[in-house]
Amino acid sequence: MTQFTNGNVNGHRKSSRIPGFYRKSLEERVGYIADFADLNSAEADILLNTGLQSEQADSMIENAIGTLALPLGIACNFKINGRDYLIPMAVEEPSVLAAVSHAAKLIRAGGGFRTESSDPVMIGQIQLLDVPDMHAAIAALEANRTMLMDEADSVSQSIVRRGGGSRDIEIRPFPDTPVGPMLVVHLLYDTRDAMGANAINTAVEHIAPVVAELTGGRTNLRILSNLTDQRTATARCIVPASELDCSGMDGTTVAKRIEEANAFAIVDPYRAATHNKGIMNGIDSVVIATGNDWRAVEAGAHAYAARNGRYSSMTDWHVNEDGDLVGEITLPMAVGTVGGATKVHPTAQVAMKILDVDSAEELAQIMVAVGLAQNLAAIKALATTGIQSGHMKLHARQVALAAGADNGMVQRIADQLVAEGNVRVVRAREILAELELETELIPA
Ligand code: MEV
Repeated sequence: MTQFTNGNVNGHRKSSRIPGFYRKSLEERVGYIADFADLNSAEADILLNTGLQSEQADSMIENAIGTLALPLGIACNFKINGRDYLIPMAVEEPSVLAAVSHAAKLIRAGGGFRTESSDPVMIGQIQLLDVPDMHAAIAALEANRTMLMDEADSVSQSIVRRGGGSRDIEIRPFPDTPVGPMLVVHLLYDTRDAMGANAINTAVEHIAPVVAELTGGRTNLRILSNLTDQRTATARCIVPASELDCSGMDGTTVAKRIEEANAFAIVDPYRAATHNKGIMNGIDSVVIATGNDWRAVEAGAHAYAARNGRYSSMTDWHVNEDGDLVGEITLPMAVGTVGGATKVHPTAQVAMKILDVDSAEELAQIMVAVGLAQNLAAIKALATTGIQSGHMKLHARQVALAAGADNGMVQRIADQLVAEGNVRVVRAREILAELELETELIPA
């Protein structure tokens, strides 16, 4: 397990605790981030104006016709292994940034997150059918384990030079499948700072004929598994009960209610799906902002949540003997800092600069910390005030925008919609018309 401190302990780096960040203008926020992360004016311009250009999109995918932009926000208050991080998150859903920043502040009061991760080991699968003698095939594979790993290493020299490459061969017999007996061979392969899909797929395609030869079987699929349970990251935190006082409820009660909320997700898959969706609100947003493959991370996370045979909570929260709240999450996290969209997408490159991570493992650890914080924010709100009041305030801004309000009018209209308890576009249009009339009637 690797843990990062990065030499930036004890306030060496600028603080991620920025009171009132949400009240600053967009330009002021970008200015702050530029200062925090040493962005140059071209990089600040990518955030404010340009982003991904159609020509770049054209070289990324087939049949491109343009781009689809998402809001990019900054989560504040994160302290992970003693280091302050500002975390870029790409997401269209209101409340996510405010909620995660709030939770990170509570966790900061308990000393911040402690995180660790396994080595970045991916799994490549080879499906073998028509194996004449299962026992002999397994024995042949076991006897040739080192040869198979050397063969896999021979195709991606650059990863091997950087300290990655084959780690093990696993053999998994499935005697009874809808198409008869099947043998599945796993290649465990350390892809270092790459997410590594190409490297692992190349490696299994390369050794598949050798595997077929050794076993006398026929290979069918040769592809990575997205259940990357050899490549996990863990985050832990303690929230002092005194930080959890909320809406007239004392912190000890809130901590207990959060533990109860988590227990609901542990036992009931219907609740677990929603609980985990909230966690992935946070994780996916960082995965997307950094140009990583969020479908891969989603697939791995949900499969891992069902690893004990029943779909369950991705997090664990309990009250410790001091009455404080202790949280933990472990998830497969196949993300990279080199290659793919991370290096091609201009906004993802700026996001990576803001994060300033040294390795894929550090990035993975940040992502699970965000997931843990996002979950705390959601279940704290649900276990106390409910989420609708907070959501409605932010939703009202979107409704005002949809009604055609410009930036100067959005907050005023949103406030009135919330005060009236009628957050609908029809009503927002009426208020906008009234305000415009008022403005026209004011003599110049
Ligand atoms: C909404 O996007 C996410 C939540 O439903 C998560 C949860 O219920 O824990 C609030």
